[in-house]
Order: sequence, then structure tokens, then C-alpha cells
Amino acid sequence: MSTSLPRRVALIEVGPRDGLQNEKTPITTDVRVELCDRLTAAGFPNLEAGSFVSPKWVPQMADSAELMRRIVRKPGVTYSVLTPNMKGFEGALEAKADEVVIFGAASEAFSQRNINCSIAESVARFEPVAKAAKEHRMRVRASVSVALGCPYQGEVTPAAVEDIVRRFADLGADMIDIADTIGTGTPRATQAAFESALRVVPIGRLSAHFHDTYGMAVANAYAALEMGVSTFHASVAGMGGCPYAKGATGNVATEDLLYLFRGLGIETGVDLDTVVDVGQWISGILGRKSSSRVGNALAAKRADAAAKVAA
Ligand code: HMG
Ligand code: MG
Repeated sequence: MSTSLPRRVALIEVGPRDGLQNEKTPITTDVRVELCDRLTAAGFPNLEAGSFVSPKWVPQMADSAELMRRIVRKPGVTYSVLTPNMKGFEGALEAKADEVVIFGAASEAFSQRNINCSIAESVARFEPVAKAAKEHRMRVRASVSVALGCPYQGEVTPAAVEDIVRRFADLGADMIDIADTIGTGTPRATQAAFESALRVVPIGRLSAHFHDTYGMAVANAYAALEMGVSTFHASVAGMGGCPYAKGATGNVATEDLLYLFRGLGIETGVDLDTVVDVGQWISGILGRKSSSRVGNALAAKRADAAAKVAA
């Protein structure tokens, strides 16, 4: 374990993808475009904009090609998209994505529900995707779902995490996401999952993707920081959830992670105030209160200050 925390971390904003993929309220492409552009203006180095998956499985992401055409591409930002197979890769290539995300699981049950195939079959489908991405000089990120617990199988062993991480490393993934899909993980379990992955790849190739269903995500992020993890995923206003993990809520809110990092003196290059604005705006569009405690607290503080000025 590192003796000191990283001085700088990279944040991957996944709200436009993970946040909106499970959304019941219909969201127009205009709103998705505005969401992406406002988020990149806040300073994220990587934006997970959409998914090239079957529109029958995830209709919310069906307009990802149009989205990618319309967003204003900010220089220096990596625009990433999910690609479960070659058909998805072709969409990503056409859309000029910078990074493709292949997504597998540490449990057979979740693999079947999410992508309709076994772990071994999924890796066979990802192989040509990773190869083609390399040929086109696109980055490859690989997500390990249910690394800290599966909604269908329950416990997931460290050996199962290590196994899928190894398969992804063998495909040449530049970065491997350790995902707590259902947010059941706790700090020591988080560290154990990362330790499994560390048997295969160095810490710089691992990132943390935590859902906040049980309210543990900030604590788990701290546990990951202690291990030297320096790439984190978060969703503005804590939006999201996986359509194939019933009851799982959104990712850790970006505002909450930014507040944690700021308090620890860790640089992100992302402007918290701008993200709070975006979080309040998109929550208004979704017709509900933001799930970010920090976002709501800072917005209330601002409203209070504005009321005092007006009085
Ligand atoms: P399948 O039905 O087994 O696929 O689905 P298929 O190859 O038999 O094709 C069936 C139909 O889908 C065909 O169309 C294909 O053309 C079409 P039809 O002939 O019936 O009209 N199709 C596609 N269309 C568009 N784009 C594609 C594509 N591929 C096939 N790429 C498949 C297999 C993987 C496609 C399906 O299961 C699927 O799309 N699953 C998506 C699941 C998903 O997006 N889940 C959420 C994202 S993962 C996540 O949230 C976890 C993460 O956040 C980490 C964590 O928190 O754990 C990353
Ligand atoms: Mg997720």
C-alpha cells in the first residue's frame, strides 16, 4: 500500500453514459449534447459520452452516433464510448471516439444478463475490438463489472477478479476498471479487489468505478486512493445505474468525489462549482433532486447567499 496519497487524479465523467443509460425520463439528444459540452467545459480529461450497444437492449443510448457528431470536441479530452462487439466498434470508429470500452464481468451470471454471453465468449468478442482499436490508435479501456459482488451470484472471489483482469490485460487493455456495479463494497473489500488486479497489472493501469447504492462509494474511493489508484469514475449528480443490475443506483456523484479530493489537497483540474451547476441543471431536467449531497449542500449555500444579497 502507498504511504502517501496521489497528488493528482484523473476523473472520468460517466454521467452521459452510465448516468443516462437507465433513465426512465426520456432525454432528448439536445440535452445529452448540452450535458456533454458543459461537462467537458468543467475540465474533465475523459468523458464517457455514450454506448454503441444494441438499441433493443439499451434504447437510451440509441442516439450515441448523433451525439458524437454534435458535441463540441474539446482538444485534449478523451471521448470514450462502450463497444461490446465489432458492430459497436464500427460505430465508435465512425464517431471518431478516442477510447473504446469493452465491458465484461467477474461473474458468469452477470455476463449472461448484461451482454448475453459467457465470460469466455465475451473475451472472444472483445479480442477483435481491442485489435482494431489498436490499429486505429484508439485507447482501449476494459471494465470488470461486479468485482465486489454480483446481484445474481452474490459473492465474487478474488480469483474471479484476477482471472478477468488477466484476460483483459492479455487483450492489451490500456486501462482496466474495477467496478462495484451494485455498490455493496466496503473499503477493505475494495482493497482486496484491487490487490487481485494488482497481481496482473500495475496500479497506473487500474481505475475505480464505484456505484453508491449503499453509500460506501466515497469511503471506497479513499481506500482506493490509499492503494495509489489515481483514475476514478464518477457521474454528475450521482445519476445512473445498470439496467441489468436491478436496484443498483447511480455512480458516486462527481461533486462528492471532487469535494473529497479538494479536501485532501489532490488536484483534478475539474472545477467543482461548474459541476455543481451542471448537476443541479440536469437534475431539474430529470425532475428530481440531485443525488449528490455535496452538490445539494453547495447549491443551498449559494441560494442562501443570493437571498441575503437580495434582502
Ligand atoms: P445479442 O442479442 O446477443 O446480440 O446481444 P446479437 O449479436 O445476437 O444481435 C442481436 C441484434 O442486436 C441484431 O439486430 C444486431 O444487429 C444488434 P437485429 O438483427 O435483431 O435487428 N446488435 C447491435 N446493434 C447496435 N450496436 C451493437 C450491436 N450488437 C448487436 N453493438 C449485445 C448482445 C452485447 C449486443 C447486447 O447484449 C447489448 O447490447 N448489451 C448492452 C448491455 C449494456 O449496454 N449494459 C449497460 C452497460 S455496462 C454497465 O453499465 C457496467 C459498467 O458501468 C461497469 C459497472 O458499473 O459494472 C460499464
Ligand atoms: Mg457502472
